[in-house]
Amino acid sequence: MRPWLRAHLKRYRLPYLTGIALTFVVSGLNLVSPLISGTIVDRVIVGGEKGLLWGLLGLMIGAIVAKSLIRYGYQMLFEHVSQDTIRACREELFAKLQRMDFGYYDRTKTGDLMAHMTGDIDAIRHFIAWVVYQCLENGVVFLAAVAALFFVNWKLTLVMLAVTPFIARSTIGLSKEVKPTFSAIREQFSRLNSVVQENIAGNRVVRALAREDYEIGKFQAENEAFRQRNVESAAVWAKYIPPIEFFSGLLPVMLILAGGVMIIRGELTIGQLVTFNGLVWAINQPLRMAGWLVNDIQRYGAASDRLDRLYRLESVLDERPGAVSPAAVKGRVEFRHVSFSYGDERVLEDLSFVAESGQTIGILGPTGSGKSSIGRLLCRFYDRTSGEILLDGVDVRDYDLDCLRAQVGVTMQDVFLFSDTIEGNMAFGRPEASLEEVLRASELANAHEFAKELPEGYDTIIGERGVGLSGGQRQRVALARLLLKAPPVMILDDTTSAVDIETEERIQESIKALRGRHTMFIIAHRLSSIMHADQILVIKGGRIVERGTHEELRRLGGYYEDVFRHQTGAGALAPSEPARAEGAARG
Ligand SMILES: Nc1ncnc2c1ncn2[C@@H]1O[C@H](COP(=O)(O)OP(=O)(O)OP(=O)(O)O)[C@@H](O)[C@H]1O
Ligand SMILES: [Mg+2]
Repeated sequence: MRPWLRAHLKRYRLPYLTGIALTFVVSGLNLVSPLISGTIVDRVIVGGEKGLLWGLLGLMIGAIVAKSLIRYGYQMLFEHVSQDTIRACREELFAKLQRMDFGYYDRTKTGDLMAHMTGDIDAIRHFIAWVVYQCLENGVVFLAAVAALFFVNWKLTLVMLAVTPFIARSTIGLSKEVKPTFSAIREQFSRLNSVVQENIAGNRVVRALAREDYEIGKFQAENEAFRQRNVESAAVWAKYIPPIEFFSGLLPVMLILAGGVMIIRGELTIGQLVTFNGLVWAINQPLRMAGWLVNDIQRYGAASDRLDRLYRLESVLDERPGAVSPAAVKGRVEFRHVSFSYGDERVLEDLSFVAESGQTIGILGPTGSGKSSIGRLLCRFYDRTSGEILLDGVDVRDYDLDCLRAQVGVTMQDVFLFSDTIEGNMAFGRPEASLEEVLRASELANAHEFAKELPEGYDTIIGERGVGLSGGQRQRVALARLLLKAPPVMILDDTTSAVDIETEERIQESIKALRGRHTMFIIAHRLSSIMHADQILVIKGGRIVERGTHEELRRLGGYYEDVFRHQTGAGALAPSEPARAEGAARG
């Protein structure tokens, strides 16, 4: 048993052991009826001791009632223990997923994680609640029946046990072959899950590009493979279960044959045959169950292997011992010769710059040049490959992670909103904020004007379960979210790319008002967002190729100046927008 499972079960040791003890009692009670039936036949019916009848019948009925009650009791105990255990496992794994780094999520499919949290966990529950007691109950019933029968007539018992080696052979074969098929089923299940999950997440793209048939085809292929894996697994037990069923089915035949011969020879009484007949199921059923239980144990084994891997995951970002967590930082940021790659691909190369506390740093560069990656390193979503990233002179890796992220906030380029109210989304980073504070942040982000117009204002639910927002509206909700938290260092990644020029100007005014109190990184393609910055970095191919203020960079006449001319239509380098449109219309 896995250590994590053992640790949880330990907490329920008392109810679990009680449940196990009760299965033993029930197994013992199972023997009462057949033994008494035999006695009734031999002593009451054949022997004529009528006075014994009522007492014996009373015992039988008492045993049946006790058995039903106790069985109910232990099934409830097992159910509770198993549900409590897997609830705790789920909680632990969910908490673990909260701590995992971005790199892990880059590599891991959502469908896979969903399968862990549902199917695999359920296999564990099934094992604790059902497989364990079935194994014990069947094992004890079998051994108790064999012992009782030995006591009644050892020769006949030996005859009946002659089938067990054949059954054992099939059970062992099944156990060996079936486990890999469960792993295969489970992997295919993950794939199927992933296809469905991605399709649902991307259903708008699918519709937009009219790729429904392609998606259906992709799904059909995975679905068919899933069916195939299940059929293959079934084929394994189809190979082993029939022999098991056959040999266990032989038992009653052997009993009647051998028992009959022994009665004729006077070696066995009719009552003893009745007892044997009453207990033949107690040998038969455990032998038949053995195959299925092995099946279930292997399924549990495969699931617990996978969960074990999940349990062993370590975030590569775990904090160093002695991590610092200052209440507030001044917000001086320094990159010293920082290089970074996501895998083999170098994304940032020898980056050095300083952002003094309260400064605004603009970052500009072609798409894919590494701008967002700078922000991700500063928030420590990833760790730099070499160099140093300092916040107030302390390496970001020396901060407590929660503390670091309380000091450095980011609005991400791909805004994610929860299916929650507007207010809930804005207050996600500071749930204790008052409504006034939310409204103020919303006004700063220029979100108030549209938010108040929504059907239920700030209580309107957005996202999957509610109304949709436009791209620019989503960006403003995300900006309000950050401004409400207002950490000392803020990174605005492409935050105003989808809003119109007037709204952007108003947002710029709000942001300018924060100058001096917050260190700000503004990543943008539109120069109007960054031209007022204290320092502008131009990133190309992961390197800083130009740096300075707006005027300095214009004078430099490089990439920045190019972009400036394109965007303002100034100078001869690029024709103005109307002129270009005219040209296109003429051409
Ligand atoms: N999670 C990731 N795993 C692997 N490579 C990545 C990952 N994220 C980004 N990259 C790569 O890193 C490079 C820089 O990405 P980054 O997001 O920093 O660009 P960017 O400058 O922000 O671009 P844009 O202006 O389009 O937002 C790109 O070439 C991209 O392919
Ligand atoms: Mg980016």
